[in-house]
Amino acid sequence: MSVPIALEAFHPHALRVLFNPRVRRRPSPAVLALLDAEEVREAQIFIRSWPGYAPSPLRRLDGLADALGLGELLYKDESGRFGLGSFKALGGARAVGWLVARHGTDLTVTAATDGNHGRAVAWAARRFGCRAVIFVHEKVSEGRKRAIAGFGAEVRVAGASYDQAVSACAAEAHRNGWHIVADTAWPGYEEIPRRVMEGYTVLAEEAVQALTAPPTHLVLQAGVGSFAAAIAWSFARRFPDQRPLVLVVEPERAAGCFASCAAGTRTAVSGDLATLMAGLACGEPSSLAWPVLDELAHVFLTVPDEAAIAAMRLLARGTAGDPPIVAGESAVAGLAALVALAHHPELRGKLDLGPHSRVLLFGTEGATDPELYAQLVDETKEPPIAKRPQ
Ligand SMILES: Cc1ncc(COP(=O)(O)O)c(C=O)c1O
Repeated sequence: MSVPIALEAFHPHALRVLFNPRVRRRPSPAVLALLDAEEVREAQIFIRSWPGYAPSPLRRLDGLADALGLGELLYKDESGRFGLGSFKALGGARAVGWLVARHGTDLTVTAATDGNHGRAVAWAARRFGCRAVIFVHEKVSEGRKRAIAGFGAEVRVAGASYDQAVSACAAEAHRNGWHIVADTAWPGYEEIPRRVMEGYTVLAEEAVQALTAPPTHLVLQAGVGSFAAAIAWSFARRFPDQRPLVLVVEPERAAGCFASCAAGTRTAVSGDLATLMAGLACGEPSSLAWPVLDELAHVFLTVPDEAAIAAMRLLARGTAGDPPIVAGESAVAGLAALVALAHHPELRGKLDLGPHSRVLLFGTEGATDPELYAQLVDETKEPPIAKRPQ
């Protein structure tokens, strides 16, 4: 490894790793059928028809790959997606478009959000001509709330966590006859989240188009798991005989997928879910995403906030000739885990990470909260880490 990385900043000792005992080499027919191939195709055609559509860049991080002793490191950079700063437009906006096409514009869509999903739904409501009411929890930053309101949506603050905002949104939707556009599913509510996941498959398809060879590893951050499941599902369909190793990464205190894997069933984690990685601050996996991850994810991992900040800084300054990349807190959980894993001789071996590896990361957001971003990448200042419970 030619370029030393300040490994301590990544807190490798804090990495938690769980190998999934139920992982399957090939997905079961039931999991393959969770998304409908025809709807997936329709979603992709629909999204590609929107004004301003362009595939997001697939960046080569050769310097960093070299520093980590990996063959290839590719970073699908979502920071410019539709000017919204994250991949979320592909899912929430697709679902809003789908609803308007069926019911007309005289409807209200509503969503609970940590920021990015709500912004996408608000953006789509404006674009497709309907009304939006977006629920955020108390910890969502002012910058993110302003961005949502900027698209003409009504923003309501409800509860102390994402899961509480989801409940408030569901209750109000029921009372008022609004259409919930959630990026997570629960038993009895799966049609719209399925539309959302179909939209996310665009990301995988674009990556496949730009790749010269299938990746050996996908490192995917997870909140409710819809994004990771959509990507893992797409690659399993595309490369049934060369399925990449799937690593699912969560913040240490909001690790519902990790907990579900440990329990062998979809499980919610309790606690305040306090993490800087706002987009990943979810306690319970989606009921639609979980069966996919339960079969297709090889490993579940958790990283502390400090590691995410170190990864943001690594990208912000560029490494060994790599161009600087603007990546928000929730975009880098995968990279944070990868850096720690690449330095861990035993896990490196177990996960077959080496000079033959082609690792694909998804930089799922840019500076979606510019003030927070500036604060976190400023290396002269101590980062504002959420307090750990005593
Ligand atoms: C930037 C970013 N990355 C990743 C995710 C995780 O997506 P999911 O909740 O589908 O797991 C989110 C969710 O909001 C996000 O905003």
